[in-house]
Amino acid sequence: MEKPKIFKDETKLFPEYIPKKTPHREMEVNKLKSLFDVVLQNPAEASQQVFILGPVGSGKTLVSKKFLQYIDEQYQTNAIRIKTYYTNCRVNKVFSSILNNILATIGHSFPNRGFSVDEIVQYFLSVSLEENVHIISVFDEFDALVAHEGVEPLYIITRIREMAKDRQILSSIIISKTFSYLDKADRGILSSIQKNIIKLEAYSETQLNDILFDRILMAFNEGTVGNETTELIAKIASRYGDARYAIELLHLAGRIADFRGEDRVRPDHVREAKLQLPPQIRKEEIGYLDDHEKILLLSLSKLLKENLGERVTLKELQQEYNMSCEEYNKTPLKYTQLWIRIKDLVQRDLISAEVSSRGHRGKTTFISLLNVPAEQIYNETKERLKNG
Ligand SMILES: Nc1ncnc2c1ncn2[C@@H]1O[C@H](COP(=O)(O)OP(=O)(O)OP(=O)(O)O)[C@@H](O)[C@H]1O
Ligand SMILES: [Mg+2]
Repeated sequence: MEKPKIFKDETKLFPEYIPKKTPHREMEVNKLKSLFDVVLQNPAEASQQVFILGPVGSGKTLVSKKFLQYIDEQYQTNAIRIKTYYTNCRVNKVFSSILNNILATIGHSFPNRGFSVDEIVQYFLSVSLEENVHIISVFDEFDALVAHEGVEPLYIITRIREMAKDRQILSSIIISKTFSYLDKADRGILSSIQKNIIKLEAYSETQLNDILFDRILMAFNEGTVGNETTELIAKIASRYGDARYAIELLHLAGRIADFRGEDRVRPDHVREAKLQLPPQIRKEEIGYLDDHEKILLLSLSKLLKENLGERVTLKELQQEYNMSCEEYNKTPLKYTQLWIRIKDLVQRDLISAEVSSRGHRGKTTFISLLNVPAEQIYNETKERLKNG
């Protein structure tokens, strides 16, 4: 049996791996550290609240985890213990159970169920004081919590600072793609914390190249991934600026080369990986769309699902879209604007639009879905429209 040649350590490509170096995000990690300086200096009297925003795969989760790592390594010996906690609110959607999980990290939990949120907060405060801790907590994908419970958790987090009269016990890092989960009234709380917002941009092609370069050194045997391969991946992924997609492409291309028993990962393996990734990536891709595009996709997949046809006419689609807009409280776009969105969806390889010149009453435009089953797109867009 031949031993594997392509990978040196495949685990370095796994989504949960936290790399040592984070090219093009060092500044953001440092900004977090400096914002939390006051807490680290004086956890009794200071607490902090920071928001991290940025599109899919822009490194939000990574930046927050690098920061927590730093805290865990540096700050174990204070008189007041600094504890870190991380949760993904898409997984953990109930605020009281999140607070309970935080308590579990310091060896406590609520004695029984049926506590009101206020009681939970009071208990939380007293236990934290008793244990002499200040908790720095990351609430990742916070919008999912708001979709589930409304904006109250945000107010509670914000107000715990005021409620902790004797001593500060909680600082927070709140992550989401945008602030769209907040309506106008709730955005008021943001005005006071402008300087505490860290905004990550989508990665450029060169930045993705740098990120890939580091991973390749760790995960692949020397000389197995050439520059032309890396450059192609960076180019494909730069359309979204998404580092996760870039790393997934790299990983899958490596697997394909490995499986075939080849000794190099070539651009062709990347192209093949790109074709194989669609189903999951397309799901992710829906997150990149604006609401009108999502509603368009929802309407299209609904029609295709119900009619069992291959395609619908633009006119049918527009009618369905207008109805769906009503359902989601959106003003339907006029034709010209709508057509721009349709072209964007075509550009993203999600749908196709073909003009037929045959019909006797002039041209008809037919729209259909590419590659992904209507049912899957329907469920995914519906979920995204609900939860942002
Ligand atoms: N600057 C970077 N250097 C190295 N790896 C990175 C960098 N930025 C992101 N990554 C990697 O890309 C992947 C996606 O990053 P991350 O999970 O932080 O994105 P995100 O902004 O939280 O995305 P989402 O909105 O989908 O949650 C992870 O595997 C992460 O390790
Ligand atoms: Mg994330």
